[in-house]
Amino acid sequence: MLYYLDTAHLDSIQQAMECFPLSGVTTNPSIISKECQPLGTLLRDIRSCIGPSRMLFAQVIAREAEQMVREADALRQWCGPSFSVKIPATVQGLKAIASIKRQDPSFHVTATAIFTPQQALLCARAGADYVAPYINRLDNFGADGIQVIAEISRLFSTYKLPCQTVGASFRNVQQIHSCALAGAGAVTVSPDLLPLLLQHPLTDAAVEEFKRHWANTYGAKADLIEQLK
Ligand code: E4P
Repeated sequence: MLYYLDTAHLDSIQQAMECFPLSGVTTNPSIISKECQPLGTLLRDIRSCIGPSRMLFAQVIAREAEQMVREADALRQWCGPSFSVKIPATVQGLKAIASIKRQDPSFHVTATAIFTPQQALLCARAGADYVAPYINRLDNFGADGIQVIAEISRLFSTYKLPCQTVGASFRNVQQIHSCALAGAGAVTVSPDLLPLLLQHPLTDAAVEEFKRHWANTYGAKADLIEQLK
Protein backbone atom coordinates (compact mmCIF):
# COMPACT_ATOMS: atom_id res chain seq x y z
CA MET A 1 0.00 0.00 0.00
CA LEU A 2 1.32 3.44 -0.95
CA TYR A 3 1.19 6.44 1.37
CA TYR A 4 0.35 9.96 0.19
CA LEU A 5 0.31 13.12 2.27
CA ASP A 6 -3.04 14.95 2.36
CA THR A 7 -2.05 18.62 2.71
CA ALA A 8 -0.86 21.72 0.86
CA HIS A 9 1.11 23.03 3.84
CA LEU A 10 4.68 23.36 2.54
CA ASP A 11 6.56 22.99 5.84
CA SER A 12 4.56 19.88 6.68
CA ILE A 13 5.26 18.43 3.23
CA GLN A 14 8.99 19.14 3.57
CA GLN A 15 9.23 17.60 7.03
CA ALA A 16 7.21 14.52 6.14
CA MET A 17 9.14 13.94 2.89
CA GLU A 18 12.42 13.85 4.83
CA CYS A 19 11.32 10.90 6.98
CA PHE A 20 8.43 8.99 5.45
CA PRO A 21 8.35 6.86 2.28
CA LEU A 22 5.69 9.01 0.63
CA SER A 23 4.57 8.55 -2.96
CA GLY A 24 3.17 12.06 -3.33
CA VAL A 25 0.80 14.73 -2.12
CA THR A 26 -2.97 14.97 -2.45
CA THR A 27 -4.93 18.21 -2.28
CA ASN A 28 -8.51 19.32 -2.70
CA PRO A 29 -10.04 22.82 -2.93
CA SER A 30 -10.56 22.99 0.87
CA ILE A 31 -6.95 21.98 1.57
CA ILE A 32 -5.63 24.49 -1.02
CA SER A 33 -7.85 27.33 0.29
CA LYS A 34 -6.47 26.90 3.83
CA GLU A 35 -3.03 28.08 2.66
CA CYS A 36 -4.38 31.46 1.36
CA GLN A 37 -1.85 31.57 -1.49
CA PRO A 38 -2.18 31.97 -5.26
CA LEU A 39 -3.00 28.52 -6.64
CA GLY A 40 -0.22 28.53 -9.26
CA THR A 41 2.49 29.49 -6.77
CA LEU A 42 1.32 26.94 -4.24
CA LEU A 43 1.19 24.06 -6.72
CA ARG A 44 4.63 25.04 -8.10
CA ASP A 45 6.08 25.10 -4.58
CA ILE A 46 4.57 21.72 -3.74
CA ARG A 47 5.99 20.29 -6.96
CA SER A 48 9.47 21.57 -6.22
CA CYS A 49 9.18 20.20 -2.67
CA ILE A 50 8.26 16.67 -3.79
CA GLY A 51 10.36 16.53 -6.97
CA PRO A 52 9.34 15.56 -10.50
CA SER A 53 8.52 11.90 -9.94
CA ARG A 54 6.23 11.88 -6.89
CA MET A 55 2.53 12.14 -7.67
CA LEU A 56 0.72 15.45 -7.16
CA PHE A 57 -3.09 15.41 -7.02
CA ALA A 58 -5.14 18.58 -7.58
CA GLN A 59 -8.86 18.96 -8.09
CA VAL A 60 -11.10 20.77 -10.57
CA ILE A 61 -13.64 23.34 -9.36
CA ALA A 62 -16.10 23.36 -12.27
CA ARG A 63 -19.43 21.49 -12.10
CA GLU A 64 -19.89 21.06 -15.87
CA ALA A 65 -17.92 18.39 -17.74
CA GLU A 66 -16.55 20.62 -20.51
CA GLN A 67 -15.09 23.12 -18.03
CA MET A 68 -13.77 20.27 -15.83
CA VAL A 69 -11.82 19.00 -18.84
CA ARG A 70 -10.41 22.48 -19.53
CA GLU A 71 -9.40 22.88 -15.89
CA ALA A 72 -7.84 19.40 -15.88
CA ASP A 73 -5.71 20.28 -18.93
CA ALA A 74 -4.61 23.56 -17.34
CA LEU A 75 -3.70 21.86 -14.04
CA ARG A 76 -1.73 19.15 -15.81
CA GLN A 77 0.23 21.72 -17.84
CA TRP A 78 1.02 23.62 -14.67
CA CYS A 79 1.89 20.66 -12.43
CA GLY A 80 4.07 18.77 -14.91
CA PRO A 81 4.55 15.01 -15.02
CA SER A 82 3.36 12.65 -12.27
CA PHE A 83 0.14 14.56 -11.91
CA SER A 84 -3.38 13.28 -11.30
CA VAL A 85 -6.46 15.43 -11.69
CA LYS A 86 -9.20 14.84 -9.11
CA ILE A 87 -12.75 14.89 -10.40
CA PRO A 88 -15.79 14.44 -8.12
CA ALA A 89 -17.95 11.37 -8.77
CA THR A 90 -20.96 13.26 -10.18
CA VAL A 91 -22.76 12.62 -13.48
CA GLN A 92 -20.84 15.53 -15.05
CA GLY A 93 -17.68 14.22 -13.41
CA LEU A 94 -18.20 10.81 -15.00
CA LYS A 95 -18.59 12.47 -18.39
CA ALA A 96 -15.40 14.49 -17.82
CA ILE A 97 -13.42 11.39 -16.76
CA ALA A 98 -14.43 9.52 -19.93
CA SER A 99 -13.67 12.54 -22.10
CA ILE A 100 -10.20 13.10 -20.56
CA LYS A 101 -9.28 9.41 -20.95
CA ARG A 102 -10.56 9.35 -24.56
CA GLN A 103 -8.48 12.41 -25.36
CA ASP A 104 -5.34 11.05 -23.65
CA PRO A 105 -5.28 7.59 -22.00
CA SER A 106 -2.02 8.48 -20.23
CA PHE A 107 -3.66 11.33 -18.26
CA HIS A 108 -3.98 10.09 -14.63
CA VAL A 109 -7.50 10.67 -13.36
CA THR A 110 -8.74 10.29 -9.78
CA ALA A 111 -12.45 10.07 -9.07
CA THR A 112 -12.94 11.72 -5.70
CA ALA A 113 -15.67 12.22 -3.08
CA ILE A 114 -16.51 8.52 -3.40
CA PHE A 115 -19.00 7.21 -0.83
CA THR A 116 -20.38 4.05 -2.42
CA PRO A 117 -18.93 1.03 -4.27
CA GLN A 118 -21.19 1.76 -7.25
CA GLN A 119 -19.74 5.26 -7.61
CA ALA A 120 -16.29 3.68 -7.63
CA LEU A 121 -17.25 1.02 -10.16
CA LEU A 122 -18.83 3.52 -12.55
CA CYS A 123 -15.85 5.86 -12.33
CA ALA A 124 -13.42 2.98 -12.93
CA ARG A 125 -15.51 1.89 -15.93
CA ALA A 126 -15.36 5.47 -17.24
CA GLY A 127 -11.55 5.16 -17.11
CA ALA A 128 -10.51 6.55 -13.71
CA ASP A 129 -7.06 5.36 -12.62
CA TYR A 130 -7.76 6.02 -8.93
CA VAL A 131 -10.85 6.30 -6.75
CA ALA A 132 -10.79 8.10 -3.40
CA PRO A 133 -13.40 6.91 -0.89
CA TYR A 134 -13.80 9.15 2.20
CA ILE A 135 -13.59 6.79 5.17
CA ASN A 136 -14.10 9.03 8.19
CA ARG A 137 -16.92 10.99 6.59
CA LEU A 138 -18.68 7.67 5.94
CA ASP A 139 -18.07 6.49 9.51
CA ASN A 140 -19.42 9.79 10.88
CA PHE A 141 -22.52 9.27 8.79
CA GLY A 142 -23.22 5.94 10.50
CA ALA A 143 -21.96 3.96 7.51
CA ASP A 144 -18.93 1.64 7.42
CA GLY A 145 -16.07 3.25 5.45
CA ILE A 146 -13.89 0.13 5.59
CA GLN A 147 -16.69 -2.04 4.26
CA VAL A 148 -16.95 0.36 1.30
CA ILE A 149 -13.21 -0.02 0.65
CA ALA A 150 -13.44 -3.81 0.92
CA GLU A 151 -16.33 -3.95 -1.55
CA ILE A 152 -14.54 -1.65 -4.00
CA SER A 153 -11.42 -3.86 -3.82
CA ARG A 154 -13.58 -6.94 -4.48
CA LEU A 155 -15.34 -5.34 -7.43
CA PHE A 156 -12.08 -4.15 -9.03
CA SER A 157 -10.58 -7.60 -8.64
CA THR A 158 -13.72 -9.43 -9.88
CA TYR A 159 -13.95 -7.27 -12.98
CA LYS A 160 -10.15 -6.96 -13.37
CA LEU A 161 -10.30 -3.17 -13.45
CA PRO A 162 -6.89 -1.45 -13.39
CA CYS A 163 -8.05 1.18 -10.91
CA GLN A 164 -6.35 1.86 -7.59
CA THR A 165 -8.24 2.66 -4.40
CA VAL A 166 -6.77 5.61 -2.49
CA GLY A 167 -8.42 5.65 0.94
CA ALA A 168 -8.95 9.25 2.14
CA SER A 169 -10.43 11.16 5.08
CA PHE A 170 -8.96 9.49 8.18
CA ARG A 171 -9.08 10.45 11.83
CA ASN A 172 -7.23 7.54 13.44
CA VAL A 173 -4.60 4.86 12.87
CA GLN A 174 -7.07 1.98 13.06
CA GLN A 175 -9.02 3.32 10.06
CA ILE A 176 -5.78 3.40 8.03
CA HIS A 177 -4.78 -0.10 9.10
CA SER A 178 -8.22 -1.51 8.34
CA CYS A 179 -7.99 0.13 4.93
CA ALA A 180 -4.72 -1.70 4.27
CA LEU A 181 -6.30 -5.02 5.31
CA ALA A 182 -9.31 -4.30 3.10
CA GLY A 183 -7.02 -4.13 0.06
CA ALA A 184 -6.59 -0.39 -0.55
CA GLY A 185 -3.78 0.34 -3.00
CA ALA A 186 -2.95 3.59 -1.22
CA VAL A 187 -4.04 5.93 1.54
CA THR A 188 -3.71 9.67 1.87
CA VAL A 189 -2.97 10.78 5.41
CA SER A 190 -2.84 14.20 7.10
CA PRO A 191 0.51 15.41 8.52
CA ASP A 192 -0.93 15.15 12.06
CA LEU A 193 -1.92 11.52 11.70
CA LEU A 194 1.13 10.27 9.79
CA PRO A 195 3.59 10.10 12.76
CA LEU A 196 0.94 8.33 14.86
CA LEU A 197 1.29 5.33 12.53
CA LEU A 198 4.74 4.76 14.08
CA GLN A 199 4.04 5.80 17.65
CA HIS A 200 4.14 3.06 20.30
CA PRO A 201 5.17 3.33 23.97
CA LEU A 202 6.93 -0.07 23.81
CA THR A 203 9.09 1.20 20.92
CA ASP A 204 10.06 4.25 23.00
CA ALA A 205 10.77 2.01 26.01
CA ALA A 206 12.90 -0.36 23.90
CA VAL A 207 14.97 2.53 22.50
CA GLU A 208 15.51 3.91 26.02
CA GLU A 209 16.60 0.47 27.24
CA PHE A 210 19.12 0.06 24.37
CA LYS A 211 20.55 3.46 25.24
CA ARG A 212 20.81 2.59 28.97
CA HIS A 213 22.53 -0.77 28.36
CA TRP A 214 24.98 0.81 25.92
CA ALA A 215 25.79 3.60 28.38
CA ASN A 216 26.29 1.12 31.25
CA THR A 217 29.01 -0.69 29.33
CA TYR A 218 30.59 1.91 27.03
CA GLY A 219 29.68 5.18 28.77
CA ALA A 220 26.85 7.63 28.09
CA LYS A 221 28.94 9.65 25.61
CA ALA A 222 30.49 6.69 23.75
CA ASP A 223 30.19 7.00 19.98
CA LEU A 224 29.45 3.80 18.07
CA ILE A 225 31.72 4.67 15.14
CA GLU A 226 34.59 5.48 17.51
CA GLN A 227 34.10 2.10 19.22
CA LEU A 228 34.73 0.37 15.89
CA LYS A 229 38.17 1.96 15.44
C1 E4P B 1 -8.57 13.52 -0.03
O1 E4P B 1 -7.97 14.01 -0.92
C2 E4P B 1 -9.78 14.07 0.60
O2 E4P B 1 -10.11 15.25 -0.01
C3 E4P B 1 -9.58 14.27 2.06
O3 E4P B 1 -8.86 13.20 2.61
C4 E4P B 1 -10.88 14.52 2.78
O4 E4P B 1 -10.61 14.46 4.14
P1 E4P B 1 -11.51 15.16 5.27
O5 E4P B 1 -12.74 14.35 5.44
O6 E4P B 1 -10.63 15.14 6.46
O7 E4P B 1 -11.79 16.56 4.79
